[in-house]
Amino acid sequence: MCGIVGYIGNQESSPILMEGLERLSYRGYDSAGVAVIGSDGKINVRKAKGRLENLENLLKEKTVYGTVGIGHTRWATHGEPSDLNAHPHTDVKGDIAVVHNGIIENHVSLRKQLEMNGAQFVSQTDTEVVAHLLNQLYEGDMKAALLKAMTMLEGSYALGVICTREPDVVYCARNDSPLVIGFKDGEGFIASDIPALLSHTRDVIFLKDKEIGVLDRSGVKVFDIYGNEQHHEPYHVEWDLSSAEKGGYAHYMLKEIHEQPEAIKKTFEPRYSGTPGDYSWLPLTVEEVKNLRKISIVACGTAYHAGVAGRYAIEKLARIPVEAAIASEYRYRDPIIGENELFIAVSQSGETADTLAALREAKRRGAKVMAVCNVVGSTIAREVGDENTLYTYAGPEIAVASTKAYTTQVELMMLIAVALGQMKGELASEKAQELLDQMHQMPALVEKALGTEEQLQKFTSIASHKKHVFFVGRGLDYALSLEAALKLKEVSYIFSEAYAAGELKHGPIALLQEGRLVVATITQTALLDKTLSNLREIKARGAWVVAVCRESLKEKVTPEADELILIPDTDDLLMPLLAVIPLQMFAYCMAVARGCDVDKPRNLAKSVTVE
Ligand code: M6R
Repeated sequence: MCGIVGYIGNQESSPILMEGLERLSYRGYDSAGVAVIGSDGKINVRKAKGRLENLENLLKEKTVYGTVGIGHTRWATHGEPSDLNAHPHTDVKGDIAVVHNGIIENHVSLRKQLEMNGAQFVSQTDTEVVAHLLNQLYEGDMKAALLKAMTMLEGSYALGVICTREPDVVYCARNDSPLVIGFKDGEGFIASDIPALLSHTRDVIFLKDKEIGVLDRSGVKVFDIYGNEQHHEPYHVEWDLSSAEKGGYAHYMLKEIHEQPEAIKKTFEPRYSGTPGDYSWLPLTVEEVKNLRKISIVACGTAYHAGVAGRYAIEKLARIPVEAAIASEYRYRDPIIGENELFIAVSQSGETADTLAALREAKRRGAKVMAVCNVVGSTIAREVGDENTLYTYAGPEIAVASTKAYTTQVELMMLIAVALGQMKGELASEKAQELLDQMHQMPALVEKALGTEEQLQKFTSIASHKKHVFFVGRGLDYALSLEAALKLKEVSYIFSEAYAAGELKHGPIALLQEGRLVVATITQTALLDKTLSNLREIKARGAWVVAVCRESLKEKVTPEADELILIPDTDDLLMPLLAVIPLQMFAYCMAVARGCDVDKPRNLAKSVTVE
């Protein structure tokens, strides 16, 4: 979604803003702009629809100079992508410029009010109201105007503000939309995401909801909505920019697929002491676990699919009822949840608006809340508290299509299942030991599964013209098929659908015909015979069957499939961690073969901060 950057210091701001915007471009955008306070004391705004190159060309033609500025990449919500609707937006005289992420929900009523007082709007955006509002509230102190504005704005926002009457200050504010402030000697930075400022500083402050930041060349001050100064312990970012760069790979998605052995290792090691029984990393007591009536795992997209896999594992090992729910549906269905229930929000970014809203709903109704999250300092992590957040240590995930976040989420789900199983007394320590040992071996097995890349490249060069692909499986293989279908559709734009293999004959089989491509995942030994009979039904309709299959089942699956993609063996429960590798690679290779924009698929944003 949209990205914000801001700079104050002694260097020219526009190259710094442009570099920051480039680093945020992975979030998805359709226009971009910058506003810089020039040496004449005026704000110069440059905006362009489309890719950042357009803005860069405009800046070459019409240069802006100045050491204080803000910038933005916009992903359209209110009003089409256009030069006019691009941010920054200004008040009538152009004295105040604003960039904004999020949605101002009461923009219609505010707009009417502001127009009655003389404001003239030029865009269709909700953001423009903020610029006019600040102008009408301004009485010589932008901090006061901003604090007053925040009591009037409804919805979510991260704001960056500059003003000609206070030319040596950058202001920022947040409510339900992330904003990070970076600083070093004489320079201050704002950004909606860490990579945008990481080439300048690793010392950051995460602004909290309803706080404002005031940056000048002497430092940063943070205030709450009542104007009281707040102290924030700076956070030192450990990872460096190379973690957020392509490192020789053609695309971020490919790089991130290859980073999975390392991500899995980093996520597992802090939770593994060598013997089962030490689950101090899980923020639940044995008594709480024994009293749990139900667990709700709530998330969106890929994170939801990790939750579906978690449901199978937790129910099997801990015998606790689990529901996996889509966050956008959960909140509005008047969910039945309360005391002695556990709610787990799963989110790579920790900023997904629907997941956050569902989490708040569960908290309000008295459930114990936890998060599985990849981004330290994100809203969801903060909402449940660090002590209740299980971090996936996948490192920054830049490609819009989630890969390493998924595997680490699934891994944590499996770890939670083992922990709950033992704490509840349902899982024998021998079996727990066996599972943990196999998880310990997982990075090497994933490395082996990555060896399927060449086979997939060859195969997709023939398959890439397909218009439809079906993914089928049973049990955990069905959970995996859901993820495989999402991955393929988002990066290759091929219509793909996942079905529980046993459900095919209740309708979807009508779609099967000569040459239709069906990808079957076959890793669950206990369900093998049932899945094989489903494969026969599929083959009988002339479909082209590709089986992603564990090595030990090769002989039995060979007669039923046209193409076999073999992956190493481990416990049934852990197989999704291996089987997902060729499925991700399949989506990637198909997208490349079709010439798609793999890392930034059309219409998609990395972090969906609107409902
Ligand atoms: O940041 P989150 O994990 O909360 O994001 C949830 C979904 O938006 C995300 O997984 C999305 O489905 C990805 N594009 C999938 O690859």
